[in-house]
Amino acid sequence: MYSELFQESLARVEASREKNIALDPIRMTAEQKETVLASFHPDYKVDEFAVLTVGPNKGDKVPKELAEILQAHSRITPKSVCLEHPDYETDVLIIGGGGAGASAAIEAHEAGADVTVVTKLRMGDANTMMAEGGIQAADKPNDSPAIHFIDAFGGGHFAAKKELLKKLVCDAPEAIQWLSNLGVEFDKEENGTMVTTHGGGTSRKRMHAAKDYSGAEIMRTLRDEVMNRKIPIIDFTAAIELILDENGNAAGAVLMNMETKELLVAKAKTVVIATGGAGRMHYQGFPTSNHYGATADGLVLGYRAGAKLLYAETLQYHPTGVAFPEQIFGALVTEKVRSLGAKLVNKHGEVFMHPLETRDVTAASIIRECSERNNGIDCNNGHGVWLDTPMIEKIGGEGTIMKRIPAMWRMFEKYGIDIRYEPILVYPTLHYQNGGLDITDDCMTTNVNNLFVAGEAVGGIHGKNRLMGNSLLDIIVFGRSAGKNAAAKAKNTRVGRLTLAHVERFEKELAKAGIKTETVSPKLLPNYTKQNNI
Ligand code: FUM
Repeated sequence: MYSELFQESLARVEASREKNIALDPIRMTAEQKETVLASFHPDYKVDEFAVLTVGPNKGDKVPKELAEILQAHSRITPKSVCLEHPDYETDVLIIGGGGAGASAAIEAHEAGADVTVVTKLRMGDANTMMAEGGIQAADKPNDSPAIHFIDAFGGGHFAAKKELLKKLVCDAPEAIQWLSNLGVEFDKEENGTMVTTHGGGTSRKRMHAAKDYSGAEIMRTLRDEVMNRKIPIIDFTAAIELILDENGNAAGAVLMNMETKELLVAKAKTVVIATGGAGRMHYQGFPTSNHYGATADGLVLGYRAGAKLLYAETLQYHPTGVAFPEQIFGALVTEKVRSLGAKLVNKHGEVFMHPLETRDVTAASIIRECSERNNGIDCNNGHGVWLDTPMIEKIGGEGTIMKRIPAMWRMFEKYGIDIRYEPILVYPTLHYQNGGLDITDDCMTTNVNNLFVAGEAVGGIHGKNRLMGNSLLDIIVFGRSAGKNAAAKAKNTRVGRLTLAHVERFEKELAKAGIKTETVSPKLLPNYTKQNNI
């Protein structure tokens, strides 16, 4: 139910709906995309970045907020941590309880390793659980991993590490089968074939979904499998520093009980970082679609231990975060809404772009529409554009919304907006960290032995922009691979004397670089009591 303020614009949207449905907006040229990105995408705002002066990426620029936590003090005084009598000993220590961590745990366990998962919240409190639209895999007769590769490589500005992207697309069909066999209830046609749709930047319909709660369905299944296997989970406990051995190999982590702040030591033959994303860093003041614990912890842990970052300067702003009502500001409105036919419309009722351009281009175009062109709708002390959801019912037939995107309907219905009959207001929201730790195709970091990474903490799989549905895919493909490889490596590993000398070295580097800061990291949770935090 929209107030008087919106009525004039709403009337224009309604009056133009039939005409707008019939429109087939032309795609932007490469030059037009470059222009809108350079002027309006947040990644191009030079003042919002800082150059790192310590660590393996010294000289590289990253978001200011990330620079602050990468160049911060440790939460521990290394000498006060007793490493001689570990509280836990395991073959493979997995840090993170989301989709990547769970997939790694299952495969490492399957390979016969002794596995332990540590997670700062609960198993499944992760971006995976919040993923909506689906998971890509080229498993239909008109598609192939090669075509999937071309779509994703172009969408990522030709910057993906080719060997990682190749693995992503080639392992995708089997990943879907694996999930299906574990019990994921994908949407199917009457004849049993999977329902697939387009996402932004895809040339084939390859998005597999469980309505618009695909991530929750996948996470439910993975969590059940971890629990059925009785893999130990240390929950409400954060990894706050990696431990290396005297040979420089990753060999465990210092853990902190989130409630009591008690420090614990976990010794391991190999370590997998699967800590997820960074939306709760609220880069450039953006709201986020991410879960409460998404604070870039894995990047900090890895960086201090000497692991390199790749593309940490690139973030994904999902084009359609909720702009109104205020109570769900920044929450995700799945791209599937546009896949099903809803178009983006300005305050005059005009369709201003093709709804399925890649995400960075779409987000930048919405920002331009609301700023330079002054065609946005004022709301929540900001602005938004209309996403004309009633088009879905007109195109797909009555009942399409309840059948395909019931969670979207429910999210808005709580605030008196029925998306079957009323459009919704959207604006970009911080959604995904394109960059992360640099790995080779066995998931091990390029410069810390026995340290594996999977999921959103990895950089380079997608290049500088990710396509919809390739993240749920990468947590499965790289999570599984990290688990298998970490288990195999653990078989031939003898752990030397444990040390935190790298933490002391990092502190000295900070002092030498003249960095004076009171910040400690990893951040672990956002602090919403500070006025300037969002
Ligand atoms: O729009 C979405 O449903 C998000 C999907 C993704 O980030 O892959």
